[in-house]
Amino acid sequence: KKVVLAYSGGLDTSAIIPWLKENYDCEVVAFAADVGQGDEELEGLHEKAIKTGASECYIVDLKEEFVADYIYPTIKTGAVYEGEYLLGTSMARPVIAKAQVEIARKVGADALCHGCTGKGNDQVRFESTFAALAPDLQVIAPWREWNMVSREDLLDYLAARDIKTSASATKIYSRDANAWHISHEGGELEDPWCEPTKGIWTMTVDPEDAPDQAETVTLSFDKGLLTKVNDVALSPYKALVELNTIAAKHGVGRIDIVENRLVGMKSRGCYETPGGTVIMAAYKALECMVLDKAALKHREYLGLEFSHVMYDGRWFTALSDSLLAGADVFAQQVTGDIVVKLYKGRATVTQRRSPNSLYSEDFATFGKDDVYDQKHAEGFIRLFSLSSRIATLNNNARNAK
Ligand code: ARG
Ligand code: SIN
Repeated sequence: KKVVLAYSGGLDTSAIIPWLKENYDCEVVAFAADVGQGDEELEGLHEKAIKTGASECYIVDLKEEFVADYIYPTIKTGAVYEGEYLLGTSMARPVIAKAQVEIARKVGADALCHGCTGKGNDQVRFESTFAALAPDLQVIAPWREWNMVSREDLLDYLAARDIKTSASATKIYSRDANAWHISHEGGELEDPWCEPTKGIWTMTVDPEDAPDQAETVTLSFDKGLLTKVNDVALSPYKALVELNTIAAKHGVGRIDIVENRLVGMKSRGCYETPGGTVIMAAYKALECMVLDKAALKHREYLGLEFSHVMYDGRWFTALSDSLLAGADVFAQQVTGDIVVKLYKGRATVTQRRSPNSLYSEDFATFGKDDVYDQKHAEGFIRLFSLSSRIATLNNNARNAK
């Protein structure tokens, strides 16, 4: 029997390797995804996995695929969960789980395993992807099976088997990083009345310590895709990395929220999405130039709907495909340049232009124009408000009887 484990090299998935071998009498193949979480997390991973008892370790570079095929389509929908969360962890799960299934096919595995807890969203996202792509494979979720509850338990478990680990007993926060964001949960954050300490944030400069000098950055889009940053053509992943660097310096992209998990409980989390925050602001500003009122309203609906599809792990569904296809139609108009000013935690759009712009200074001006006849507004308003007029007239007539 062979199991492919989504492995991070952290304490949890390190303990899972010997646990699987003992409890399932199987060979364990470790799989790690590079979604841009940074070299520190990936360094020495292969060696570590083998030392911990894995028979093989595959590290797959998913950085460009993640940004081009998951993040960009999501940006086009405008999805923001509960008004604030830019879905960094949620978007990474389907691309990771899909690559895990591919490794499982390649090595001829019988089962898939992950280290998500039984209390969170991530278990749902992994297993929904497994269900859609590999319904024949068994799923193993150790956190829902074993009796270990603390880091001490996991350390004792490894020590009893003479497996060395550099993990400490006191890791306070649960963090999840990728090219788009890093999330922080746990520790004192579990008290929603507790302000996050400076040490929680790892990706961005504290806005209070950010430069006194504002910086502007120009984003160029072509049919909904970010193609240039400050006039330099970059791949989707490289453009994101570049914007992360610029925006992080100015403390842009921090949020501190209480959110609704899919499994019913509320959780408190801090998130840093520096480049993503700039991209989302620029994208929205460009949409405002090229989509008319009804189209923009429908795009907002798509974004709201898709935020739940993405958060709830429903990427590989027909509903997801249909929302993405709808958003892509609008995205065909999203071409142009946006200038964003970064200053002490804020990203403010200050300039916009588009070949598809519906904006017309001739029409919008408060000065004299010769394209718009203000008399036309009278008839429009009479018909637009006709039902209100009829309702009140009828009501008055009834009351007079
Ligand atoms: N609450 C966020 C989400 O559901 C972040 C989850 C972080 N995951 C983690 N394994 N630390 O998308
Ligand atoms: C976990 O519980 O594994 C992380 C948090 C989440 O999935 O929501």
